[in-house]
Amino acid sequence: MAATCYCQNHCPDGQLNGTCNLQPFSQCYAAAEEVLNPDTGQLEPEWSYGCMPPGEQGFMQCKGHLVPHLIPKSIACCHSSDLCNKELRPMFRPTSSTWSQLITAENVHLLAFLICASLCFAVILVLLIVCHRRLKQQEKNCEHYYSSRKHSWFGGSDSLDYTTEDSSGSGSGLPLLVQRTIAKQLVMIHTIGKGRYGEVWLAKWRGEKVAVKIFFTLDEQSWFRETEIYQTILMRHENILGFIAADIKGTGSWTQMLLVTDYLEYGSLYDYLNSIVLEPRAALQLAYSAASGICHLHTEIHGTKGKPAIAHRDIKSKNILVKRNGDCVIADFGLAVRYLSDINQVDIAPNTRVGTRRYMAPEVLDETLNKRSFEAFKQADMYSFGLVLWEIARRTYILDKREVCRSSDDSDKAPLCSSVETYQLPYYDCVPKDPSFEDMHAVVVAKRIRPDIPQNWYKLEPHSTFAQTMSECWAMNPTARLPALRVKKTFSKLLDW
Ligand SMILES: Nc1ncnc2c1ncn2[C@@H]1O[C@H](COP(=O)(O)OP(=O)(O)O)[C@@H](O)[C@H]1O
Ligand SMILES: [Mg+2]
Repeated sequence: MAATCYCQNHCPDGQLNGTCNLQPFSQCYAAAEEVLNPDTGQLEPEWSYGCMPPGEQGFMQCKGHLVPHLIPKSIACCHSSDLCNKELRPMFRPTSSTWSQLITAENVHLLAFLICASLCFAVILVLLIVCHRRLKQQEKNCEHYYSSRKHSWFGGSDSLDYTTEDSSGSGSGLPLLVQRTIAKQLVMIHTIGKGRYGEVWLAKWRGEKVAVKIFFTLDEQSWFRETEIYQTILMRHENILGFIAADIKGTGSWTQMLLVTDYLEYGSLYDYLNSIVLEPRAALQLAYSAASGICHLHTEIHGTKGKPAIAHRDIKSKNILVKRNGDCVIADFGLAVRYLSDINQVDIAPNTRVGTRRYMAPEVLDETLNKRSFEAFKQADMYSFGLVLWEIARRTYILDKREVCRSSDDSDKAPLCSSVETYQLPYYDCVPKDPSFEDMHAVVVAKRIRPDIPQNWYKLEPHSTFAQTMSECWAMNPTARLPALRVKKTFSKLLDW
């Protein structure tokens, strides 16, 4: 059994080396530790020798080589003979292998867990940032829309002036706050229409029926433009669809753009003409009221609170609705353009949407329409309106006094009202169902074909006026076409007659 141990660096009385006396139940030790040699800049082992304290503390220290250390260390103990530790040379694994030492079987799980946790944290952080950005963007859209309404392009009046519900001339719709409340209080009932750019629903708002147009998320521009047009000062008119509210609803990745308008139970003129035949007076009323709506749209009203001239660019029977009193209203302003008369510029909506090919004027089809001339857009509207007049006239009885009318309870007698044509879309007999640009160009521009006007239309009113008016509306030369005001006056005279 050893009584003395060799000592170095840890000797009693501060000696550099020598011996130390062992206490009962203690051991001699030799320890190695990695230290930086300032002369060489290298990590090198440094040995120390001495006597361990007695008891558990010394015992545990002698096991020190079994656990990994941040600074590489090793230790060896002995008590077989005096100075037995002098020959001991414990060695640690140098720094380069410290990491691999740390990654022991037990540590691998911990390490894997730490990596997974960090990855999850990073993914959650990215998702949170993306959501936050989207929300901010949506808020911005809303802000932009509402602030743009405050700074209307025309007249520059404040929003209250033109958002009050009065028919005396201000812009249409309810005050902004009310609009946003309405959108939240809507109870959707069922769909009533589907266009290319959205879906129209019958909904209830405080027990009142309203129509809600929901735009496809990708067609933000149509919603924006249509809302802007409805908000135009002096837009409200008995022959323009009554606007109630507009709003953007949405959370995160899902956005709904809504437009709330009066609900018209007869639906579009297209649906109406498909379902009923018209008395001449009813046909005149439809034509007159639709012309009045277009005329109001096309007309600029001067003054600080004036109205800009607006062209529709998608006039067709599906975009004209019928009121219960038999009047038409113009709807669907997703493509409309306004004329900025002070700077003589047409404000074209930044929208990829194009009009309906079947109703496109020849200058739109051959792409010669001068987009800087507002007159050109109005003339193109009148061409399309000519086709709508043809659709109405086909569904109108021609009263012939020489004949006796057949009624449902008197079906044997000869008809007083000559037969009515079936409902057809313009050019139904010369282009396919969903005509291409080329199909329409070949018929309307190359062959200069127009819908057929039966000869008997020229014999009696109101068909004769309808025939004359529609052919002047769809003239090949845009400048030869009738303006909306002229058409309105023509039908007005017949109605008074
Ligand atoms: N206020 C309304 N009342 C009743 N039906 C409507 C109303 N608004 C639209 N519709 C129906 O929905 C259809 C599509 O509406 P529209 O505004 O033209 O949408 P889109 O821009 O998708 O063409 C119309 O042709 C009509 O049948
Ligand atoms: Mg439409």
